[in-house]
Amino acid sequence: MTTAREAIANGASKKAHALLGIPPRYQGKALIPSKTAEEAVRAMLEGKSLYLTGACGSGKTHLAVALLQSWYADGLELNGEGKIYPSRGRALFLPAIELMLEIKQSWNSDEGVKNESEKQIIDRYSSTAFLVLDDLGAEKISEGSRQVMYALLDRRYRNCAQTIITSNLSIERLQESFDDRIASRICEMGVVIDMGRKDWRVTK
Ligand SMILES: Nc1ncnc2c1ncn2[C@@H]1O[C@H](COP(=O)(O)OP(=O)(O)O)[C@@H](O)[C@H]1O
Ligand SMILES: [Mg+2]
Repeated sequence: MTTAREAIANGASKKAHALLGIPPRYQGKALIPSKTAEEAVRAMLEGKSLYLTGACGSGKTHLAVALLQSWYADGLELNGEGKIYPSRGRALFLPAIELMLEIKQSWNSDEGVKNESEKQIIDRYSSTAFLVLDDLGAEKISEGSRQVMYALLDRRYRNCAQTIITSNLSIERLQESFDDRIASRICEMGVVIDMGRKDWRVTK
């Protein structure tokens, strides 16, 4: 059990990558110790949500993936038959842009193909126990995307569902140019962490 948890938290479990929806580029990544990471882990363990903001390449997605793996690993338990199961429910990595593509696809109802409805998609991600919404604001910002993100985040806010959001937008920019209702809910749900300006992709 300890080894299964460790493997998942260290990004070494292929099964967990598939279950959690971790993209290939972030498979194998684990928490890189730092003051910021420590603050984020503390908030996560307290059940708080997080808004990770900062420049492109500052490590937002990497940290979010590490937190997702760690949350999922911590929640694994053994049932009566000795099988491992996620006692706290589902956890998922969801790029904001993919969510918008899924929603758009739900509008094209090709004959004979029964697409999932917009409501079903939002229901699914609202009821996921732990959700990483990656790169909020990277999708084309429109009235449509504002509505979808608001529907999802307002639902998660009302259900007190733990959510990690990453975004290049500062919380002030989110408030001004995206949606002030979303920004206000995020602030109440948890902690805003600024990952700074350094681009690890360039530095490496
Ligand atoms: N603290 C760190 N030290 C070294 N490399 C890091 C650190 N944080 C992130 N990285 C790496 O830098 C790259 C960019 O990180 P990423 O999380 O994709 O940035 P962002 O989501 O903020 O654009 C990735 O390859 C990631 O693994
Ligand atoms: Mg990113």
